[in-house]
Amino acid sequence: MTFPADTLDLNRAMNHFAGHDRLWLFGYGSLIYKVDFPFLERRPARVRNWGRRFWQGSHDHRGTPEHPGRVATLVHSPGAVCEGMAYLITPGEFKHLDYREKNGYLRWVTDIHFTGDESCPGVVYVADEHNAAFLGPAPEREIAEHIARSAGPSGSNAEYLLQLAEALRALGEHDEHVFAIERYLRSLPDSAP
Ligand code: SIN
Repeated sequence: MTFPADTLDLNRAMNHFAGHDRLWLFGYGSLIYKVDFPFLERRPARVRNWGRRFWQGSHDHRGTPEHPGRVATLVHSPGAVCEGMAYLITPGEFKHLDYREKNGYLRWVTDIHFTGDESCPGVVYVADEHNAAFLGPAPEREIAEHIARSAGPSGSNAEYLLQLAEALRALGEHDEHVFAIERYLRSLPDSAP
């Protein structure tokens, strides 16, 4: 089963947290560093059994349908922990967020873990292998080369990767997949975004 690269209608039909006046959203990619939506509260957080991978194609932000970029998604990974940022939002923000994340991402519900033992179910945008823009795994050096030659309406693909790496460092987090791609990217000629 493959669903379309444009997931806007699928997400708009979702009704998790219907009736709630606020909910937590977990961001692990550009949602960590590009916060173009209002929120009530923001806290560093993590999700378990998910790994962050540059396996999703980007047709609308960091690439084009003809030359997709590579951006972050989450893949099921037992025992893994993905660090990111959680935002307490009102459901009204989905109008903007669904549009922003429409290139293959679907709203999933997962437990978001905060510092200490605190956790609660929240929403995360995941682009899994069933979406038409999914690119899948590749060696990190190849991912870096792909990123280095990609750009789209939101800017260069390199900028996405480098801003994410910076944001993770600012959170005090280490993600070896992201940092390995960053190292390869910085070693390429003309790698500046
Ligand atoms: C996210 O950041 O949580 C989703 C992927 C992205 O927008 O980069």
